[in-house]
Order: sequence, then C-alpha cells, then structure tokens
Amino acid sequence: EKGTYPHYMLKEIDEQPAVVRKIVQAYQNEHDKLTIQPEILEAMQAADRIHIIAAGTSYHAGLIGKEYIEKLAGIPVEVHVSSEFGYNMPLLSEKPLFIFISQSGETADSRQVLVKIKEMGHASLTITNVAGSTLSRESDHTLLLFAGPEIAVASTKAYTAQLAVLSILAAVTAEARGIDIGFDLVQELGIVANAIQAQVDSKEEMEQIATEFLSTTRNCFFIGRVMDYFVGLEGSLKLKEISYIQAEGFAGGELKHGTIALIEEGTPVIALATQEAVNLNIRGNVKEVAARGAHTCIISMEGLQEEGDSLVLPKVNELLSPLVSVIPMQLISYYAALHRDCDVDKPRNLAKSVTVE
Ligand code: M6R
Repeated sequence: EKGTYPHYMLKEIDEQPAVVRKIVQAYQNEHDKLTIQPEILEAMQAADRIHIIAAGTSYHAGLIGKEYIEKLAGIPVEVHVSSEFGYNMPLLSEKPLFIFISQSGETADSRQVLVKIKEMGHASLTITNVAGSTLSRESDHTLLLFAGPEIAVASTKAYTAQLAVLSILAAVTAEARGIDIGFDLVQELGIVANAIQAQVDSKEEMEQIATEFLSTTRNCFFIGRVMDYFVGLEGSLKLKEISYIQAEGFAGGELKHGTIALIEEGTPVIALATQEAVNLNIRGNVKEVAARGAHTCIISMEGLQEEGDSLVLPKVNELLSPLVSVIPMQLISYYAALHRDCDVDKPRNLAKSVTVE
C-alpha cells in the first residue's frame, strides 16, 4: 500500500534509510557481527574470478559491487550485462563464481545465463529481493535484500539494498581471507543511513534542481569519474525511464572524445563530485562543458565542495558514497517526471520484471 504517498516510487525512495538499517540487522549475528552463510563464504574464497551478471539498475549496482569485492576482498571481478554474456562469453578461468543480481529474481536475460553456466558446472549466487524467485531457486546460494516489495517500475530501494548487501558480502569475505578493511562497516552503514535520511528530507531542494535544470530540456548528461561515473549511469537510466528526457551517463573524461559536440547553450550537465582522488579532474570536465554553454549542476560531498555547487552531500565513507549520491538522482528524476505529467510508477513500454529475453 502506498498510503498517503502520491506514488510508490516516492514511498520507496523514502524507505531507503530504514532498508539500509534493516539489512545491517539482518546480516548481524547475536554478537552484532556481520555474517554471511559459511557455504557462500567458501564459494567466494574458492573463486579465482567472480562474474557479476545483471540487467538495468541491478547491472549498475554490479559495477559498484565490483569495486567493493576487488577493493575490500581482493578477488578479481568482471561485470556483465546478462543479455550479452550468454551469447558472447569471455574466456573463463578455472574456478569462476557467478553472482546474479536481480531485484525480482525473474529476469529472463539473467536466467538464460544461469542455465548455461550451470550446464558448464560453475558455482552461482543470487542476490535478490524475492525469496523463492526463479533465480534464487535455481542457483546454488542466495543472499536476500530485505528491501520489502518494490512496486514502482523504476528501481530505487532495491539499488541501495543491493549496494549495502554487496558491501557486507565484500567485507565479510575480506575478513574470512584475513584482510583488515580498516573501517567498521556497521558503523559506516549507520552513517550512510543518516545521510540518506537527510537527502530524502530535502525534497524541496531536489524539486528546485529538477525545475532549474530539467523543466524544458530535451536531453541531459550525467558525468562522474570512478564510482560517480557508475552512479551517473544509474541517474541517467532513472531520468529517461520515467521522464522520457533523453539522458546519458559518461565518464567525465570521455565526453570530450565526441559527445561534447552535443553540448549547446543551456544543455544540462549533472556532475557528481564525491571522489577525492578525481575531484579536480571532474571539476575540470565541468569547466570544459560550461565553456561550451552547458548548464552545469554539481553534486559534491562535504570536504570536496566548492562555491556554486548545487548540492553538498554529507560526508560518508567514500566507497559507500553511491548509496547517498544516488538519492538526488532518484528524486530529481521523480520531480522531472512529475513536472512533465508522466506516469511515474508505470512508465510507458516498461514492465516491472522483464520475463522475456
Ligand atoms: O528484477 P531485476 O533487478 O533483474 O530487473 C533488472 C532491470 O529490468 C531493472 O533494474 C530495470 O532496469 C529497472 N526498471 C530500472 O529502474
């Protein structure tokens, strides 16, 4: 039930702080320590390479999941769009582990890959919101998202839940491998939940950004570097899916290799600047497009902000910043769609789960 909310999407955006807290609880043992089923940890440790397979928003979560698993647990990871992987498999290593990320657990493109890799005798783990879903039943192991039912076609809370679960999987695997990740993930996810809360409580600001940058535009670009690039991809998917504004996400440095030709007077470019190591680089990229007339909106993080930024997010652990920086992406898209009288919860041509290949 959406209760007093005008749309499921808005309700689901608002649920995100609670979802992150619930996930932490669900994965804590009686001593408040994060744990994962031993069979899953064994599968992670036995893997010489991990392949993350997913579609749409879940694929975007996978791109961040790769960062978590590689940076925290030190296992090499590849991320693939499921509709491509099954028909163009890369050379596989001796002991690959396949991680399927799927909110619904019913995505046919992903299932097709699961069927193939099972035939090949490879191990599989599904990260899903739906216990008993097809992908969960048919893979060796399952990790649940505990996000509660997601009704709106545009995925929001499932994405943050996927990131939270992937961070826990990576951190617990690191511990099992004797690696000290150098921070307390439970504490950091608590800080993240508060930062998400601050964003969902700033709806007026988000609506203003949507009004200022997106009310009349026909297109929009999202740029970012490192993890901000992946969040920009998700921002552009969200925006086009529900508002029908043509949107594209780019690595900040890539725009000048062609796409900058599309920048005209007033073209909105939304830039994320939450990653310290590339802060100057992304700001340089913003200047490049601004010099060509782009209407630039910078979303930065405390400690990295500069005067003129449109929004400054509270400081969180840098690896976890996508859980926070995606919230303005969701809310700005929501208001852009609302202002255009779009059917926010049921965008045209789309179904909640895509059960055909
Ligand atoms: O249920 P899944 O996570 O497997 O679904 C994958 C995509 O179809 C899904 O994320 C889609 O891209 C969303 N509508 C995005 O908001």
